[in-house]
Amino acid sequence: MNFTLSIKQRQIRQMARQFARAELAPIAKEIDEEGRFPWEAVEKMGPLNFFGMQAPRQYSGAELDSISYCLVIEEISRVCGAMGLTLAVHNSVVVYPLSIFGNDDQKAKFIPPLATGGKIGAFCLTESNAGSDALAIESTAIRDGDSYIVNANKIFVTNGGVADTLIIFTSVNPGDVKKGFSAILVERGSPGFELGLLENNCGMRANPVCSIVLTDCRVPKANLLGQEGDGFKIAMTALDTGRIGIAAQAVGIGQGALDASLKYAKERIQFRVPLARHQAIQMMLADMGTMVEAARLLTLQAAHIRDQGGELAGPSAMAKLFAGRTASKVASMGVQIHGGYGYSKDYPIERYFRDARVTEIYEGTNEIQQIVITRELLKRGED
Ligand code: CAA
Repeated sequence: MNFTLSIKQRQIRQMARQFARAELAPIAKEIDEEGRFPWEAVEKMGPLNFFGMQAPRQYSGAELDSISYCLVIEEISRVCGAMGLTLAVHNSVVVYPLSIFGNDDQKAKFIPPLATGGKIGAFCLTESNAGSDALAIESTAIRDGDSYIVNANKIFVTNGGVADTLIIFTSVNPGDVKKGFSAILVERGSPGFELGLLENNCGMRANPVCSIVLTDCRVPKANLLGQEGDGFKIAMTALDTGRIGIAAQAVGIGQGALDASLKYAKERIQFRVPLARHQAIQMMLADMGTMVEAARLLTLQAAHIRDQGGELAGPSAMAKLFAGRTASKVASMGVQIHGGYGYSKDYPIERYFRDARVTEIYEGTNEIQQIVITRELLKRGED
């Protein structure tokens, strides 16, 4: 086993780190408070190919290996969780499934503008009655000549407020949702396309999470991703990869919370010495650092397995479960180290604390990851 990053991977990490420090650190607090999507940062990320990390080179992508991809997501999330989320969802659950399941025409049409950051992607699975139980969707796509008439009410759509290209999960067979489960590419502005409620979320506030309503929306049949009935496999394949990205995001948030806590522990004087000299604080910092490092290793291992073409469901679920819990725990310990100041918006730790929590929920709750992990363990047990 080789734990050493290649020179190229270290360069990519350094580039992402420098970008995050120069361009995101100065605005992270403000965009969180204002709930503002930072187009000025997005414009600068496009030329760095941050939106095309998972896209093939022939479609203007960077075609990065998964480890490099995780390093970028970690560095961005370390400074700004909301931008880490935008990139993770766009790359992992939109561009990646498009490049795997799209036909040549779809790839040529949809990937280049996504890969260059000219357009933003969104993945629309969740509905009011279909969260963890993804097969319970009620959206429909009924064939009408060369089109589908799509009716859908999707909620909690990450990037929803700014997305141009959306993968909508729906059923072409309302009588047998599972059999008809299908993925259809819908463009913002299509007739019958409407932005719904913008969520007033606890964290990740710079990401415009909203609902998307499609009413009798006519979509060309050519926008069907894969075949009719392939939708669940496409959703699960996307999420297997996506969960590695969310794990990397959680590692970044945990690392950011640790960075903020180390800084504060060195500056804050209590009982005539910096907090960092008190053993109680040292013990917390040691646990925080150890947890973040363990989460990073599990995440990079899942990325490595992906790069080797290995079975992903179990490793990605383990990485997301552990890294999400780590981010929440480490950020909470960071608040504790900051004492009363940790509860104030004057210090970044409260933002990490709010941003961390959702990494235990989206792209499958902790409990869904546990289901996936146990299924894999039981399968392995049979080997
Ligand atoms: N890869 C490929 N195929 C898979 C798969 C995988 N990882 N997991 C399951 N499948 C296939 C199965 O083989 C099965 O196929 P057959 O019917 O041909 O045998 C089919 O899919 C159905 O599988 P299950 O019987 O296992 O289905 P289930 O109803 O028990 O559900 C589940 C499985 C793992 C719980 C799944 O429903 C799940 O992951 N739920 C969570 C959904 C989720 O993560 N939602 C988050 C929304 S995305 C998001 O957060 C938005 C965002 O923008 C961040």
